[in-house]
Amino acid sequence: MKWTKHSIPDQTGRIALITGSNSGLGFESAKALLDKGATVIMGCRSLQKAQTAKELLLQSTNAGSIDLIHIDLADLSSIHKASEELKAKYGRLNLLINNAGVMAPPLTRSNQGLELQFAVNHLGHMALTINLLPILEKERASRVVTVTSGAQFMGQISWGDLQSEKSYNRWGAYSQSKLANVMFALELDARLRQSESDSSSLLAHPGLARTNLQSTSVSSNKSWQEAIAYQLMGPLFQSAKMGSLPQLYAATSIKAKGGQQYGPNFNFRGFPKLCRSAPSALNKKKRKMLWELSEALIEKFK
Ligand SMILES: NC(=O)c1ccc[n+]([C@@H]2O[C@H](COP(=O)([O-])OP(=O)(O)OC[C@H]3O[C@@H](n4cnc5c(N)ncnc54)[C@H](OP(=O)(O)O)[C@@H]3O)[C@@H](O)[C@H]2O)c1
Repeated sequence: MKWTKHSIPDQTGRIALITGSNSGLGFESAKALLDKGATVIMGCRSLQKAQTAKELLLQSTNAGSIDLIHIDLADLSSIHKASEELKAKYGRLNLLINNAGVMAPPLTRSNQGLELQFAVNHLGHMALTINLLPILEKERASRVVTVTSGAQFMGQISWGDLQSEKSYNRWGAYSQSKLANVMFALELDARLRQSESDSSSLLAHPGLARTNLQSTSVSSNKSWQEAIAYQLMGPLFQSAKMGSLPQLYAATSIKAKGGQQYGPNFNFRGFPKLCRSAPSALNKKKRKMLWELSEALIEKFK
């Protein structure tokens, strides 16, 4: 039987934070979890967009409840502030979906001067997760789901130029950040196992899903060539709803376990299935190196 959003177990009483949930996959995940009775906290960088998304969600369901919180993942101080607010307001968390992302913009720096994709896709989510671990670990079998991409397989960590100070390749930096997502999530799960924690860390990738990711990338680069390429690729894309299923499976299925990655059946489209992580993410020494380097950056800008 195919796993759909109707397969999600009852979420009543559970609290889920989803980053970037005003749009695309995050929005669809918010909708599916709400339908099952969860309290969904939408962590978004624009409260105005989040409010519009909330109104849309409220039109489609009476179940669950929605809260909004401002989180700009390109700014470590915003992440720390949001984490403190969440700890004070809720004191517990069952699920964190590290979903927000930015793809292949021209060279841009975060508030702390870091390369934007490294900062938003990887470091910001790592900082958020570490800050929220105390309230995640208060709940039985809580999960952190980090959203990566097929780009993880092309990714290389540019150890000598992590922040693209010497040269910048926008697709190389995207792939680096999506490989970093996998290395982070696997390392987190290993550390949770080592400390005998009941929480776990999983991964999901959506395949190819029609969201704002492509149009935002095209407009930030003013690239008519990529606009045409995405149009030609149209039939390959699945809907945002289908693309959200792997993260929903990783977040809620009783069969999903820490350290696993879920993606679409045929890699770029289809219903969720267990899939493998990029071989470059399996090197424990390099994972530890990236963790320590990232941790030092988070500490430096605290
Ligand atoms: N769609 C695909 O085919 C595909 C394929 C592989 C992987 N993914 C991954 O799926 C995830 C979700 O993307 P999507 O496809 O749903 O794209 P999307 O519709 O563009 O959604 C991305 C979300 O991330 C938010 N975001 C961007 N920068 C942020 C920041 N600095 N702080 C907080 N939030 C920020 C966006 O907010 P704004 O609305 O304010 O910009 C938006 O809510 C990403 O991690 C992406 O890498 C997608």
